[in-house]
Amino acid sequence: MSNKDKVLKILLENRDNYVSGQSIAHTLSVSRNAIWKTMVKLKDEGVPIISSKKLGYMLSPDFDILSIDEIKKHLIDELKEIDIHLLNTVDSTNNYAKVLAKQNASEYTLVVSDTQTHGKGRMGRTFNSPSGTGIYMSLILKPTTNVETSQLITSCVAVAISKAIDTLCGCNTKIKWVNDIFLNDRKISGTLTEGSVNFETGSFAYIVVGIGINVRSVKGIFNEELSAIATSIEDETNIKISRSRLIAEVFNNIYLQMQAIDERTFIEEYIRRSLIINKEIVVLEGGKEFNAKAIGIDKNAGLIVQFPDGSTKVLNSGEARIRKY
Ligand code: BTN
Repeated sequence: MSNKDKVLKILLENRDNYVSGQSIAHTLSVSRNAIWKTMVKLKDEGVPIISSKKLGYMLSPDFDILSIDEIKKHLIDELKEIDIHLLNTVDSTNNYAKVLAKQNASEYTLVVSDTQTHGKGRMGRTFNSPSGTGIYMSLILKPTTNVETSQLITSCVAVAISKAIDTLCGCNTKIKWVNDIFLNDRKISGTLTEGSVNFETGSFAYIVVGIGINVRSVKGIFNEELSAIATSIEDETNIKISRSRLIAEVFNNIYLQMQAIDERTFIEEYIRRSLIINKEIVVLEGGKEFNAKAIGIDKNAGLIVQFPDGSTKVLNSGEARIRKY
């Protein structure tokens, strides 16, 4: 670890408190002048450090750096030893995780990046991934269940994200089938699940669950068109939550729920959090759009819809949008 990283680690360990230059110099066995030079370097790189002649140095309370130590600190014991790949930038954490999965990375390997240059959304869309604001994470899963249950995993992840945000921010997020998370009627999170199937066994070789969450303020970052449909946790709640803390909470929830995926216990919670049940919707399926009413969720997280002629159908893929009048 370079001296610069060691200094940053000390500042992170003492968040919200000043640390004197002398004590950092003593801990690292270097001169106070060397610490001063390191602080200048860190500030030049954009790390917001507050300096006080009397008290020393402190990270700005607004600064939200991603850190493996901070993520692991909040993970449950079962996950403390997992592999975490923390990147500054990448095209897409899903692409990165798929390469790792093909190289036989272990289950629950986590890839996190501060920003993505080509973040991928569902249906071939892009996912806006500005630095310092969002969570862009991909998790490798190796479920032994058959391919038909992939929708269960996606909806299980939606419940995990929704619960994690509510727990840490005291808010009331909703899930729009299949796995968009909404807060105050605008989207704050989406998930893109990609998998590789082993055709001999009919089960997954691996699944990469890619999660994007808008955490810090996106005001002035998202354009007008995007701001009309998407928002962030901070913009809705005024809470400046730590991204590392939230990553751990989401991960813990996914892990615990995945242990009981076959029992489908999370479906009840999924229904309770649904934004769409009893709403008039437009369904997008196989390149076509049609009007329907969402009337329920079945035991496999399929959306039960009713058409204007009274007939019903269960949707296991596609997307739905709430109709605006
Ligand atoms: C959607 O809402 O359409 C899905 C968005 C999924 C975005 C996440 S960010 C981390 C992971 N890497 C990607 O390229 N996409 C997913």
